[in-house]
Amino acid sequence: MALKYDPINPKFPHMIHGGDYNPDQWQSYPEVLQEDIRLMKLAGINAPSVAIFSWMALEPHEGEYHWDWLDSTMDRLAKNGMYAVLATPSGAKPVWMADKYPEICRVRQDGQREPQRGRHNHCPTSPVYRSKCVEMNTHLAERYKDHPALLVWHVSNEYNGGPCHCELCLSAFRQWLKARYGTIENLNDCWWSRFWSHTFTDWEQINPVDESIHGMMLDWRRFRNEQMLDFYLTESAPLRKITPNVPITTNMMPYFDGLDYAAWAPHLDVLSLDVYPLWHNPAGNANIGASVAFQYDRFRAMKNGKPWMLMESAPSVTNWTPVAKHKRPGMHMLASMQAIAHGSDTVQYFQWRAGRGGSEKFHSAVVNHDGTEHTRIFRGVAEVGEVLKRMDGIVGTSVEPQVAVMFDVDNRWALEAAQGPRREHKDYEETALAHYRPFWDMGVPIDVIAHDHDLSQYKLLIAPMLYMVRQETADRIADFVRQGGTLVLTYWSGIVDEYDRCYMAFRPGPLADVVDIRDEDTDALYEGETNTMNLVDDDGLGLAENYTCSLYCDIIHTDDARVLGTYASDFYADTPALTVHKYGQGRAYYVAARFGADFHTDFARGLCQKLGIKPVLSAALPEGVTAQLRTDGETDYVFLGNYGDCPQEITLDGHYVDLVSDSSVTDTIHLSPYGAAVLVRTAKL
Ligand code: GLA
Ligand code: ZN
Repeated sequence: MALKYDPINPKFPHMIHGGDYNPDQWQSYPEVLQEDIRLMKLAGINAPSVAIFSWMALEPHEGEYHWDWLDSTMDRLAKNGMYAVLATPSGAKPVWMADKYPEICRVRQDGQREPQRGRHNHCPTSPVYRSKCVEMNTHLAERYKDHPALLVWHVSNEYNGGPCHCELCLSAFRQWLKARYGTIENLNDCWWSRFWSHTFTDWEQINPVDESIHGMMLDWRRFRNEQMLDFYLTESAPLRKITPNVPITTNMMPYFDGLDYAAWAPHLDVLSLDVYPLWHNPAGNANIGASVAFQYDRFRAMKNGKPWMLMESAPSVTNWTPVAKHKRPGMHMLASMQAIAHGSDTVQYFQWRAGRGGSEKFHSAVVNHDGTEHTRIFRGVAEVGEVLKRMDGIVGTSVEPQVAVMFDVDNRWALEAAQGPRREHKDYEETALAHYRPFWDMGVPIDVIAHDHDLSQYKLLIAPMLYMVRQETADRIADFVRQGGTLVLTYWSGIVDEYDRCYMAFRPGPLADVVDIRDEDTDALYEGETNTMNLVDDDGLGLAENYTCSLYCDIIHTDDARVLGTYASDFYADTPALTVHKYGQGRAYYVAARFGADFHTDFARGLCQKLGIKPVLSAALPEGVTAQLRTDGETDYVFLGNYGDCPQEITLDGHYVDLVSDSSVTDTIHLSPYGAAVLVRTAKL
């Protein structure tokens, strides 16, 4: 990986500030379109995202294209020194098209075709829709390829892997299976389909509606991911060809689990995210902030540290949530700086201007229905615009974490479908987050990675609940430890292969040698029940004498691993609950039970000290405050954020300039509740 990347588009080496802009909805309001430009300048907007759902405005009747409105939008932006993140319109299919070609609408599991409505609901296989998109995107690329405003392609909008059970999709699925399994016998074998007499004798019998065939439903999810990716590649092809130098992205939803974005990342020039944290909800802002950071660190790692785009964020409220609560003063700046702290080179919004009608008219916008700059939200956005202007030096910088948490979507799909050991509280994401959290609290840079991510840069790899582990993943993890890495593996790991078939071995299957554990089974506890781990050997980690565990307790044995903690009660009292095993040059810990935040905090702190993994700032951070780093190897940018409700004082180790307040700070800095600072520290004087 690198520490300094080119700007997203080298023709604009600055932070991008923009948002979804829908001039197509305002064509009969020319004064509004003029006013938009004045207001954008006031807010420091430099690259709005244009034409996202504009198919109807671009092609109101089949083959009849209307470019005038988009031409004048692009020209107006360019004339005023701005750029466009230009969209392709496939996110919403036009009514006439669904009317004429019903095959572009999805079919439900019960065989009913969905009526035309909403958006994000086209069939990903339909040759008609694919060719319409290619046609449209060819026109767009040809028309704007030399336009000075064209900065980035925003392909479609929030693709999802929602199922379509039409004949075209089912037949594509069967083809996909043929390519994967070769013979129907092999497929039956991999799906263990003798169970309940589910054996297939013909490919045509395969219909992905049976949740009891785990292998099939897992493949159905994988197929849908690949089919949607294939759709994206098809509609992007003309853009690639006609405008090879314009970066291509499509906006992703970090909390959405329908697609495995890690498989998409190599096919995008830059990743972009739509992020709508429900700030100020009862979970508390520090918990919310940590969970957002987890996602940011996941997407940054998908492209090995390359900066990404915050394509959408709310200027204040979202309106699709049960409660549309406003961002409190400070939170807009903090949330915007948080994205940059974790690698974004943009701050963009949904939406620039609130429409007069439709379901998003009450979603926050930079410009609300009053149409003026005289609102708290507008001022907040303009303040971010001012700060971004001071951040040219940060563009393209990155970070090289020494710690990674493995959080893998394919594993998640398999794990969540499994019936056992608990139906509820599998909590894969929450568990990965619990392991991640102490690093966020300490201000230690960390990546969140998929199962096939390169491990060579890390000193510490935490792989919680690695239920599905492919042999090759196990081999790479074993290599990582053999060569000196430290591994943390947990309960409910190494159980199935990539077809979701249990290994015929003690758990953790292909990783058993690395941890030197034989895991007989996992005991699931009812909510409210607990066990305790008593420490018997500290391993120099500074752990407490005991910790409470709950929900999952593996019953394990070991020959050569050192037992660090044992269960206090139940029929497995005195058997190991925490072990460490020397393997090659490295060490592998096995955490046999689900512990609380107290254990995670102490364990992570101990591991960092033992492995010489340093936080961004040397002084301890107050509760609710985190520190993140971006650097080009010469200049360090330290991002501080206070997610707590109280003011905090943070000890610094020298002299800095704060880009948020535009002032210098020495030795200590005070952050108000939801306060943010971006400190410039020169590493080499
Ligand atoms: C998504 C979509 C936008 C808009 C926002 C509202 O992220 O991409 O078009 O609907 O949500 O929050
Ligand atoms: Zn379909």
